[in-house]
Amino acid sequence: MEIIALKSEMKKVSDGLKIRGKSIGLVPTMGYLHEGHVSLIRQSKKDCDVIILSIFVNPAQFGPNEDFNKYPRDFKRDSGIAAEEGVDYIFAPEAEEMYSKNHLSYVEVEKLNRIMCGKFRPVHFKGVCTVILKLFNIVSPNKAFFGKKDFQQLVIIKKMIKDLDLPVSIIECETVREPDGLALSSRNRYLTKEERENATILYETILFAESRIKSGEKNLSEIKKDCREILKSNKFVSKIDYFDIRDPEDLGEIKKLSRCTGKFLIASAIYIGSTRLIDNKVILL
Ligand code: PAJ
Repeated sequence: MEIIALKSEMKKVSDGLKIRGKSIGLVPTMGYLHEGHVSLIRQSKKDCDVIILSIFVNPAQFGPNEDFNKYPRDFKRDSGIAAEEGVDYIFAPEAEEMYSKNHLSYVEVEKLNRIMCGKFRPVHFKGVCTVILKLFNIVSPNKAFFGKKDFQQLVIIKKMIKDLDLPVSIIECETVREPDGLALSSRNRYLTKEERENATILYETILFAESRIKSGEKNLSEIKKDCREILKSNKFVSKIDYFDIRDPEDLGEIKKLSRCTGKFLIASAIYIGSTRLIDNKVILL
């Protein structure tokens, strides 16, 4: 496995791979790898000849009061995991390498970046799309692998690819969870022991909403209201950013059941103490 820090070198390598007819799989991450990331790597190994894992804590996707500085980093551990999983190249640029001092260009997927998480993290998806487009240009992957854990991110990236005619296929990977249901996330390490035990409330509440819909209940506002009440009643839940039921294709809000195509996205973002957690589930009726 080779570790590459320079864009020019990464481009040279991927150009060479392309000439030799190899298919390239890109797994973009911010590091501090866990089993969720590993599932993406394993899928990419099945689908592509050569795997490039990017590890880059992208400053452009963090707001001024967010956790960019304290975001967990452990490159040594990450590179050990990557090597074990058969990654061919790690692309790990410094922030100054990725963004020049006078960087002025950004990509925005309008509307979709203002709802759900975007309502509470106004620069987030602009930063995500910009770094992903840059990675696509540097690595030229045939396929890029993303987790459904970050469902809105996935929908927005697919929209960017479609709108901008980018020659990349997106492979969507299932959310990997702890045995008690908590979705794996690099941010889970911020949780204290008691917070960790109570963090399961997020997925439990999503499952509760699912069971209500599946049992035939039509009043989605009522279901959402009840779910917010359940979340509020847990004393470790310090804030609810949203608890939404939407169309998983276009993230449109489902107010009436007639609006729905038979698929529902139940998605929520809450704070457990000072840690922001997101989770979601797509259900089919
Ligand atoms: P990061 O949070 O490191 O996640 C990298 C990838 O792993 C994303 O596609 C994410 O959806 C996926 N992932 C995270 N937790 C997962 C889980 N429990 N199960 C399955 N997949 C999971 O998402 C980002 O980084 C960044 O925004 C990035 C796309 C790299 C742009 O900077």
